[in-house]
Amino acid sequence: MSKYIVTSALPYANGKLHIGHVAGAYLPADIFVRYLRLKEEDVIYICGTDEHGAPISIKAEKEGVSPQVIVDRYHQSIKDSFAGLHIDFDNFSGTSRKPHYDLSQQFFTELLENGYITSKITQQFYDEQEARFLPDRYVEGTCPHCGADGARGDQCDTCGKLIDSITLVNPISKVSGSTPVIRDTKQWYLDLPKFTPQLKEWLETKTYWKENVRNFILSWLNEGLIERAITRDINWGVPVPLEEAEGKVLYVWFDAPIGYISSTIEWAQKLGKPELWKEYWLDQNTKLVHFIGKDNIPFHTIMWPSFVMGQNENYIFPHDVPANEYLNLEGDKISTSRNWAIWVDEFIKYFDGEYLRYVLAANAPEKQDNDFLWKDFQNKINTELNNVLGNLANRVFSFSKKHFDGFVEKPTQLNELSLSTLKQVKELTKEIDSCYKEYQVRKAVKTIMDIARLGNRYFDEREPWKVIKTDKEAVQETIYTSCEILRVISVVMTPILPNFMFELRKIMGLTTNAVWTELDASPYPIKLDNIVQIFHKVEDNQIEEQIKLLQENSKANQEAEKASFQDIKAEIEFDDFLKLDIRIAEILTATKVKKTDKLLQITADIGGKEIELIAGLAKAYTPEEIIGKKVVMLLNLKPRQIKGILSQGMILAADDGDTLSILTAHKDVKTGSVIG
Ligand code: 2FM
Ligand code: ZN
Repeated sequence: MSKYIVTSALPYANGKLHIGHVAGAYLPADIFVRYLRLKEEDVIYICGTDEHGAPISIKAEKEGVSPQVIVDRYHQSIKDSFAGLHIDFDNFSGTSRKPHYDLSQQFFTELLENGYITSKITQQFYDEQEARFLPDRYVEGTCPHCGADGARGDQCDTCGKLIDSITLVNPISKVSGSTPVIRDTKQWYLDLPKFTPQLKEWLETKTYWKENVRNFILSWLNEGLIERAITRDINWGVPVPLEEAEGKVLYVWFDAPIGYISSTIEWAQKLGKPELWKEYWLDQNTKLVHFIGKDNIPFHTIMWPSFVMGQNENYIFPHDVPANEYLNLEGDKISTSRNWAIWVDEFIKYFDGEYLRYVLAANAPEKQDNDFLWKDFQNKINTELNNVLGNLANRVFSFSKKHFDGFVEKPTQLNELSLSTLKQVKELTKEIDSCYKEYQVRKAVKTIMDIARLGNRYFDEREPWKVIKTDKEAVQETIYTSCEILRVISVVMTPILPNFMFELRKIMGLTTNAVWTELDASPYPIKLDNIVQIFHKVEDNQIEEQIKLLQENSKANQEAEKASFQDIKAEIEFDDFLKLDIRIAEILTATKVKKTDKLLQITADIGGKEIELIAGLAKAYTPEEIIGKKVVMLLNLKPRQIKGILSQGMILAADDGDTLSILTAHKDVKTGSVIG
């Protein structure tokens, strides 16, 4: 018996959990763990929230709270959502906890001491308005690889490639919206090229990995690995354990996977056996299986194994990395920012969480992206769970109750049809076994439903409602065989629908936890008791309500975005206001600044004096449109050199995100009039 550590990608603690997350990295892992438990394997299921990274600090800055407040909020929300779907971890930790900091710093120090980390002065985007560096996710722009807009400074969601942030085309600071400049800063780099031969050798043994994962890695390796910065200039994260690196933290993708180990350490401590984690992480026979979404492939198959290779301890390497593709929603990409998502905490207010498990498992995006459609959800619950499996249970149980008071015995002999049906069921359970082993959850679900269909066909063919009049014994045989089928389903469906199968087993008097070896056991006679209908149909109006909600939420989100009220800035004194010298100025000349698409070079009359300035108005106004206009201008802002010109004034304008409009006076006042 080997030991297993199964992990799911640590979700970022900066938002709620949606069905796309669940379908990719969590439900398939939970199903695999439950399968291993059925097979009585020694398995621990480890996860926690990923609590660092720019999006968390950006959110905290926006809300004016500390990042820890954001982290604690979403840690709890995510944890509750998992519980609602019966996704049960052995430990669910978080990466802002002290033991995680210690271990991450230890990883860094050992890599450094072992010669795998170098430092160098590099260039990085700097936001002059905010006087701060802008690491990866603080900058957005056009992807240098595929040309897609909205690429982040670390990775492009469109082509999946990692990006060296300063190569972003048309970069924009996410903090101030300004165009950042490039400045020098010292960073520490992981020397990935040094690991290449060892990585290649190791990856060559992974012939059994999923094709999508292998292809991704091969293309990465063929392109050649380059050094990667593993430190950042922000203040939220694990501090770099070096005096000269004050104010810098470890890159979130450096510390996150170490969370798999630190969460296991926490698990062992909670059990009062602080050394127990070593029996998993340091035993080379333990199988480490990382469930992830496809965007996480390079980090788990190249970066993370490299961190491990550079350690003094013999931590195990990933045994397998089953990565899934994406789940779309109603034909469109799931999007948090557009609120085009089904949030788990909302879902479980309306439906049993296991209905979602069923549909996501039956539709798992294993080999290609897949779609979640509300109508399909209804259809699967009604025509599969209710009409096939539920129907089999209802008719068998109620028939038995009516004619035998729920007492089911094993007949001394079975006829041809019963024997061949049970034989087919047995064959199908072998297929299901391999499906689970190979992470083919879709096929597992389909095959289990084939067993249920077989059960219904068998029951129909035996026509117990007719036979009962003449041959009670034959009917007992029908009920026995059907109950056997349901019993088998109650075992093999447990990884998908743990609670529903528990209910089913309770009716049949099977009160122990299901195990695979039970398939060959025979618990008869049994007494069916407390017969209840396990599944319930999803009504049309429930689905219409959900579709409406989805559309309304997304629309409300778009409108809110447009009209979002920005917090009023900190109060100022009247004297502060009096410091501003704002006057009416008339634009005399305007020309476009070469090689930019935003800037106009302007001369203006401010009431008997001419000044020069640069204004970011070119996208909204042509020079002709603006010449002759009397505008509102701030005159005593410290002059700035922009594109070689000393800009001496600032034209005031309003911007709602769609339209940029200069401010003008309502009546024709003289040029130079003072505003106040
Ligand atoms: O992509 C993500 O959601 C990351 N938070 C996954 C981290 S996985 C691991 F390495 F911790
Ligand atoms: Zn791209």
